[in-house]
Order: sequence, then structure tokens, then C-alpha cells
Amino acid sequence: MTAEPAGRTPWSLRRRLVLGIVALLALLAVVIGGVTVAALRGQLVARLDRVLLAASERTTAAVDDVVVGGPGFPAGSIVDILPGQGAGAVGLVTVDGQVVRAGYVGEDGRPQLLTPVQLQALADVPDDRAPRTVSLGGSLGSYRAVATPLGDSGITVVNGLSLAEADATTSQLVTTVAAVGLAAIALAALLGSLVVRVALRPLTRVVETATRVSELPLESGEVLMPERVPDTTSSTEVGRVGAALNRLLGKVEGALAARHASEQKVRRFVADASHELRTPLATIRGYAELGRRESEQLPPDTARSLERIEAESVRMTTLVEDMLLLARLDAGRELPREPVGIARVVVEAVADAHVAGPAHHWLLDVPEEDVQVMGEPASLHQAVANLLANARIHTPPGTTVRVEVLPRPDSVVVTVTDDGPGIDAALVPVLFERFTRGDDARTRAGGSTGLGLAITAAIVEAHGGEVRVDSAPGRTAFAVELPRSSPLG
Ligand SMILES: Nc1ncnc2c1ncn2[C@@H]1O[C@H](COP(=O)(O)OP(=O)(O)OP(=O)(O)O)[C@@H](O)[C@H]1O
Ligand SMILES: [Mg+2]
Repeated sequence: MTAEPAGRTPWSLRRRLVLGIVALLALLAVVIGGVTVAALRGQLVARLDRVLLAASERTTAAVDDVVVGGPGFPAGSIVDILPGQGAGAVGLVTVDGQVVRAGYVGEDGRPQLLTPVQLQALADVPDDRAPRTVSLGGSLGSYRAVATPLGDSGITVVNGLSLAEADATTSQLVTTVAAVGLAAIALAALLGSLVVRVALRPLTRVVETATRVSELPLESGEVLMPERVPDTTSSTEVGRVGAALNRLLGKVEGALAARHASEQKVRRFVADASHELRTPLATIRGYAELGRRESEQLPPDTARSLERIEAESVRMTTLVEDMLLLARLDAGRELPREPVGIARVVVEAVADAHVAGPAHHWLLDVPEEDVQVMGEPASLHQAVANLLANARIHTPPGTTVRVEVLPRPDSVVVTVTDDGPGIDAALVPVLFERFTRGDDARTRAGGSTGLGLAITAAIVEAHGGEVRVDSAPGRTAFAVELPRSSPLG
């Protein structure tokens, strides 16, 4: 995977394709339009040049006639030497560089004067009989002009014809090409986006399928993934993507099912093993207790051994019971449910904790009216008792533990807060996982197992609730939130 540059959202495939089509078409329109316009203008100018050269010939002949009349260049109208030329035709005659007659044919066919700038521009045309474009400005605009020397008499005749018509035709063509080009681009964008949308629709379905799969609650042990991509024709690229995704989903589903089956097996084994261990453990404990009662008759070493056996079997019984409970909760077995007054459960648990930990300060705050939740009283008692046991065992004597029951509109929160040393920050993210325990707990004689909070979390979850922790040195707070049996309101 390549990381996208920050701050820039990449374009969608559809957008890129449509923009590609539009850009290509715009380029084509510009090239074709440009070539057409240039060709047309070239033709128009060439035709104008032919007319101009013919006009030049006629003017030269007319000037020749005038000069034949006598020495010097007689005064007269410019129209006389522009025979057969229409409005706008420009003429200029110089003798040895001096302008002797100049002007242009007006709209009414009468001679019109040129400005000095226009005169200069025409006089500057090189006398090589090659037409070229000159700008006369004013009301005349661009002209094609040609200068023709009259033998070696020193007389030069300049003729000019207006480019206005050629310019108008050209700009009309430019307008038309631009309008047609823009319309074609707009149409291409519209049709292109429709075509691309239709072509990519199966890809949208692939995305939808993948999204639905990603929303499946796979973490909660879901193993069935019924979602599949509908279009999987192998003739299209998108179809092949869909088929590949379907094959992948099939594989993942198979793997999940296999893992689920093996997990179930392990759970059943743990549950069965814990269950089977209860009876021999009870027997061991019973015999050890029996032996201890007669300890006066036993050698001191044997009596001590029996005492240890009894203590360890009590601990092992707790461990086995915890594991059995967890295995049952894991198996998702429904707990028997009845209305339970949560404040009552908390009061009893705190009373027990008080007896077990008289060196701690126990503060209790419960509402006057009890809050009912649906659940199993013994499990709920254990969930709270585990928190209280932690607040007692993992904090030094003299620690204050505050237990509160806080009713909420549709839930109830039980908090257990102590001002002890707090929980190691590295432990917090995995606190509710099995066999998580702090270093002090590990080394404590009669040690703890690290199952207490895992059991609390599993019980609370089985009741549809949630347990949270917030710990810092001097303040550790656990909060258990359970849904009320009947929400207020
Ligand atoms: N109130 C608390 N103050 C300080 N540390 C705590 C507190 N509660 C829990 N801990 C830490 O979290 C760890 C996990 O607690 P958890 O109850 O799961 O296991 P445990 O108490 O060690 O064993 P078990 O409860 O199975 O006898 C504890 O070992 C302890 O380090
Ligand atoms: Mg504990």
C-alpha cells in the first residue's frame, strides 16, 4: 500500500476516467479546430492576394497612362487609378519616395483621405510585388498590401485590400468551432460519466459487500459470512475482482468455522476438566480437614503438611470454580434471570469485605430506593465482591474504599473507588484479560490467580452491562454499569 500525500484527497476512478475523456476530447477539439481555422484563413488570404495582384496590375496600367500624358505627376483622384475596385480599396503612388497620390475608395465610391500614419505604413511596404499584411488602424484595420515599382521610373504603386471580410469569416469559424467543441465536451462528460458509472457499478457492489462483511461482528464469535458479491462474470475485470473476493470470503469463513470448532472443543474440555476436578478436590479437602482435627495425635510435621494440603486444596477449589464459571460464561450459556436489587447485593458484599478487611475504611453510598436489574444474584454478588477483594488485597491497610450505587435513567452504575497506590499503567489495557496480575499479586503468599477481573467482566457482559476502570496513583475507580430491568421514564 502506498500512503497518499497528506492534505490531498485522491480522485475517484470515475472522476479520473471522465476527466481523462474530457481532456482528450478538448485536446482533439483544439487541434482540429486550430488546423481548420488556420487552413481556412490561409485560403482566404491566398484568394485575397490573387485579387490584390490583379488590382495592382490594373493600377499600374492606369498610372502608366497618367504618366504618359507629360512630365511630372498630375493631380487627380485616387479612384482614377483604382479601376474596378470596390469600397475600402487603398491606393498610394510615390515618385522617388514622395507620396504623390493616396487615398481609399469610400463606401459611396468617392475618394477618401488617409492619415499620415496610414500613409507611412503603406509607403513602408517593400516594393517586391509580394503581398504582406499591414495594419492601417483607425476605421481601416488590417490590410493585405503589395508595392509594385513601375520600371525604373522611380514610381511605386501600392495597392491594399481589406482583410476585414477574411477576419470576419475566420472569427465566425472560431466561434462555431468553439461552440461545437464545448457542446461536444459537455456531452462527452455527461455520457462519459454515465457509461463509467454503469461500467463501475459492479465495483460498487463489491465495495458494498466488503463493507457489509467488515461490519459483521466477527469478534463475537460469528463464523457465518453469508455475504457474497453478485456479479462475478469472469469476462470483466470487475467481475474477476468480485469472484476473487468471494473466494477469499469462502476461505475466511472456512477458517473461522474451523477455529470456532476448535475453540469450542477447548472450552468444553476446560469446563469438563474443572467439573471433574471438583469431586476429587472436595475429597482431598475433606480428608485433610479430618486429619487436622486429630492433629494432637500426629507428629508436628505431618500436622503441618495436612494444614498446607487443606489450604492449597481450598485455593485450588476456588480456581477450579472460577475456571468453570468462565468456561460456562464463554459458552454463552444463558444465566437464570430474576429481578435483583443491586443496592442490596452491594450492601451485602461490602459487609463481607468489612469483615475480611477491618483495617480498611469502607464507605458506602446507596440510594434509598433500590434499583432492580435482571440477573442472577450470586453472579452479581461475585462481580462486586471481586472488585471489593481487589480494593482490599492490592492496597495497604488504612486505605479508604468508597462504594456507590448511582441510578441512571436506564441503567445503574456501581463504583468502587480506593485511594490506594493505583494499578500499573502497563497492566491497564489487559486488566480484564485472564491471568493478568500485578507483580505484587504474583509474589503474594497464597497468591492470587489474576482471574478476578476477567470473571467480573464476563459476568457484567453476560448481564448486558459494561465495566470500566480509571486508575492513577492515589485513586483507582472501577465502574460497573448494568441495564435496569425497567428503564425510568
Ligand atoms: N484496586 C486495585 N488497586 C491496585 N491494583 C489493583 C486493584 N485492582 C486490581 N489491581 C491489579 O490488577 C491485577 C488483576 O486483578 P484481578 O482481580 O484480575 O486478579 P488478582 O486480584 O491478582 O487475582 P484474583 O482476583 O483472581 O485472586 C491485580 O493483580 C492487581 O495488580
Ligand atoms: Mg482480584
